Amino acid sequence: SKQLPLRGKKVVITAGPTRERIDPVRYVSNFSSGKMGYAMAEAAAALGADAVLISGPVGLDKPIGVTVIDVESAAEMLEAVRSQFDDAAIVIKAAAVADYRPKEVYPQKMKKQPGDSTIELERTTDILKTLGTMKTHQILVGFAAETQNAVDYGSGKLESKNLDYIIVNDVTDPDAGFGKDTNVVTLLSKNGTHRPFPAMSKKKLATLLLKTIIKEESEQLND
Ligand code: PMT
Repeated sequence: SKQLPLRGKKVVITAGPTRERIDPVRYVSNFSSGKMGYAMAEAAAALGADAVLISGPVGLDKPIGVTVIDVESAAEMLEAVRSQFDDAAIVIKAAAVADYRPKEVYPQKMKKQPGDSTIELERTTDILKTLGTMKTHQILVGFAAETQNAVDYGSGKLESKNLDYIIVNDVTDPDAGFGKDTNVVTLLSKNGTHRPFPAMSKKKLATLLLKTIIKEESEQLND
């Protein structure tokens, strides 16, 4: 229907940071609060979707009407997303997934040693890139957090990860990025469209972004 354009469609959203353990009491992470991804999940549910939110550790209330799967690490997020992928109509990756994790996870709390210390890091799997190779009918939407040349780097990721859309935020903008209630983004599509959105609340923005994507994909979504 017009009011519930996503009725009967499964929309999978990832949100928040991942935590990569060093030992039982320490981890490597980032400043994602989950606000952007939770807003996308709420907006998808309000538009009628069966919304599944795969969430890293955040301090937000669970959105009503959304199925939440809690994960901790990039590896757990990958498994959760894979298990939800086949029957998803749209997959939106707002999570700030760690690109690196400690190579060794110590089973006991690391003891202080005299002098400095280093932690060796190894790459995590790029979840979005993996999904890009698995894609059949799914509309794949990434986010890109950039501190310079935001649109250029974003369109590079759109192509290299085989995405349909990428939502680029310049996280140096005072109204944008990690932890804020507002965001400033540009929506890029694989068809070359380029839509900048002014600063607004992540909640309002989430609805606008989804409506824009639904409109552009009406054929694909109504198959
Ligand atoms: O959570 P908030 O505080 O509200 O902040 C929102 C946000 C800034 C985190 C969000 O708007 C955002 O930009 N999320 C993506 C952050 C990010 O990891 O960007 P990236 O450019 O490093 O990664 C590009 C894309 O690849 C992202 O969709 C990311 O989910 C995905 N990725 C990255 C690494 C990896 N190992 N696997 C991935 O899937």
